[in-house]
Parts: sequence; C-alpha cells; structure tokens
Amino acid sequence: MKNFALIFAAVCLCAASAGFSARAAEPCMHPAMTATVLTAPTCTREGTQLFSCPRCGFSYVGAAPKAEHTPQTVPVIPPTCTENGLSGAAVCAVCGEMLSAGEILPALGHSFGAWETEKTATWVSGGTDRQTCIRCPETRRRTTQKLTHLAEEKCPLGDTDMDGAVTAADSRLILRLSVGFNDGLDTLQKENADLDKKDGVTAADARTALRMAVGLEQIIPFLKPGYTFKGYTKNNYKLAEKDGVTYVVSDYGYTLIANKTYSLPASYTPYAFKGAEPEPDSLLGLTEECRAAFSDLQSGAKKDGVSIWLLSGYRSYNRQKRLYNNYAGRDGYAAADKYSARPGHSEHQTGLAMDVNSLSSSFAGTKEGRWLAANAHKYGFIIRYAKNKEAQTGYIYEPWHIRYVGKDLAAAIYHSGLCLEEFFGITSVYR
Ligand code: DAL
Ligand code: ZN
Repeated sequence: MKNFALIFAAVCLCAASAGFSARAAEPCMHPAMTATVLTAPTCTREGTQLFSCPRCGFSYVGAAPKAEHTPQTVPVIPPTCTENGLSGAAVCAVCGEMLSAGEILPALGHSFGAWETEKTATWVSGGTDRQTCIRCPETRRRTTQKLTHLAEEKCPLGDTDMDGAVTAADSRLILRLSVGFNDGLDTLQKENADLDKKDGVTAADARTALRMAVGLEQIIPFLKPGYTFKGYTKNNYKLAEKDGVTYVVSDYGYTLIANKTYSLPASYTPYAFKGAEPEPDSLLGLTEECRAAFSDLQSGAKKDGVSIWLLSGYRSYNRQKRLYNNYAGRDGYAAADKYSARPGHSEHQTGLAMDVNSLSSSFAGTKEGRWLAANAHKYGFIIRYAKNKEAQTGYIYEPWHIRYVGKDLAAAIYHSGLCLEEFFGITSVYR
C-alpha cells in the first residue's frame, strides 16, 4: 500500500509537470483504480500489475506483493543411537524456506543386549564377552577371567594347565566329563570311542573336548542316562542316583549301595514279580546275574567237597519290616540295629545279597564258612559284613551274608582287605 501511494504520487506529479492530459483538464481524484496483474508474484519475488483509473484513463505499472508460502510438513526424522531426530518441522513447498523449526528428538544412545560369549575362557586364558546394540551394529566387549581349577582331584586338568602337551588321557577324561550336557550321549560316546581307537589323541582333539567342557560353573561328570550326579565319595568316586537308589560309579561299573546311609524306596524290587513275592529261601527273587553267579559258586564249592545253600535271599521291604520289628520287639531297637537292617536299608531288598548255610557266628569256623571266606570273590561275591568292620559297615560280623558285586570288584575288595564302605569311601549310619 505504501509503495502504491508513493508511486501514485510520483506518477501524478510527473504527469502534471509534463503537461500530459488525456482529456480537458478537470480534476480527477481516481476514486476507484483497477489493477490488472501483469507478472504473477511468487513467494520469493514481487510481481507487476497495471493500475488504471476508469474515470480519467490515467494508468501506471506498479508492484504486486510477494505471494504467501505454501507450507509443507516435514516427515518425522526418527532419532538414531547417535544422531538427533526432528518432529513437526515445516518448509515452503515452493521455495524450501524453513517455516517452522519443529522439535529436536535427542539421540537415543546405544541399548546393548545380553552379554554373549565371544571367546570362551579356558583354564589357560581368559575369554571375551560381547554385547551388540539392539538397534545398530555397535558392539562392546569385556574380558573374562580364565577358569579356576576345581579342587585338585576333581579338576579335569589336575594341577597342570594346557600350555604344555595334552595327553590322550587328559583328552579322554575331558571328553568323559563333557558327556551328558552336550550333543547327546550317543554322539559323545561315539566320539569318545573314536578317540580311543586312535593311536594318539592330539592336543587339538583335547582342546575341542575342552571347549565342550568349559562354560560350566561345575563340571558335570559322565553318567549313564537317567542317573543324577550326587557328588563324590571320600575316595573320589562319583555317587549317582536313579529312581531313589544310590550307586557308586567306578571302573567296576555302577554298584548299588544299600546300607544305613543309603536307603531304597519301599517299592524297590530287583524286578517286577508276577503274583506273590517269592519266599526268601527261593532263588527267584535274586537278580539273574546274582543267581547265575551263585550257581557257579555252588558248583565250585561242590568240586572242593563243600556244600553251600541258600537260607535267605530276596526280602521285600514289607518282609524286612516284619523281620526287623520282630527282632526289635525281642531285643530292643538298639540291639536289633546292630544285626538287622531297618526296612528300606537291607541289601536283601536288592536281590543281590544272600544268607547262606547258617546264621551263627560259629559258621566262620566251619569248613563251609572258611571256603566261602576264601573263595566267594572268585564268583563275584564279598563277605559283606566283615570281621572287625562294625564301625564301617554298621553291622556285626556276618560270615554268612554274601553280596554280589561282580568278579572284578569282589576281587579288588577281597585283596584290599577293606569292606565295601572303606573301599568306596562311604558311610553307613542312619541319618
Ligand atoms: N542282616 C542284614 C544287615 C540285614 O538285615 O539286611
Ligand atoms: Zn543277610
């Protein structure tokens, strides 16, 4: 408007002084000028328009003011871990001029996920853990300590480390320790067998095995499927449990233990009997292995002119309960505990134990008793409650009670002069 007034005044003054006149001079105040756009304005540049007075014909060219901007909202720019974002900004769609600055959305910073093992720590060197940002490829790392040896006797590497040569024995031990928590028993047993077949096991084999073993807070020892690791005996044998029954695991196999410390479930039987349970003087309740071994023992004794016969073999939990209660009723519980097992604690419930010939301490001095003491181990049996071992076995000397443990273990125990509890390093006390 201001421009228009100035131009209008200047043009009028100019026209008057030059003596121009479209008609006979008569005053004209241009009461209603019309404007015609000559050049369209934009939002960055003024246009031109022709102003004319329809009354007197006076006209001039003036400016047309700039056009309004055309606002356009800028799409939201989301922030990233390291860059700010923007929301609510607007620009002119025509000239691109920023019309509204919008709001800065601050950078998010990294959000790291869980730590993952990148390089597993071993007994030789530490490892690294890695965290990756959940939004971007940024990672960060931390180092982990090398593994600490377990108690010396339980550490797969003993008191050595892996810097030196690794023996085949090391490797096999590590493999055995690895079994049971990795790719399944079959695979690992096969791998183990394959390694055993090799002339020598390389350090690389051992290291592979070690990699399988590390990463555990505790080494889970090798056990057959279904067995749970319960710890180590005083003599460093593994204790395993299956269906409530305890076994000592050794090179001699899985030896079932039933004594004052380790009990059997009431329902435990050597196998499922069809119909009524057999009488104790029947061979039927014994395990097949035990029965076969006893038959061999009887044949061997016969050759030596000795007769061995079964008095009491398998006894169920309930039969033992009646027996023990009878003894306790007669002699009192403390006395009964010295020679009769409480129900659930008798080896007779296992089908692996037998009383033979005579339940008298004088049996030890008989020809049969002496033969049994000297020869039972050759057939896989031990005199279970040996002389002068009451403190270890928990029972008085029973020269008539034999327990089947297999020939190798029976021979090892016989030659050691130890009772079963001493041999394995276990107790026999009611808890
Ligand atoms: N006489 C043994 C200890 C038993 O009762 O099983
Ligand atoms: Zn017995």
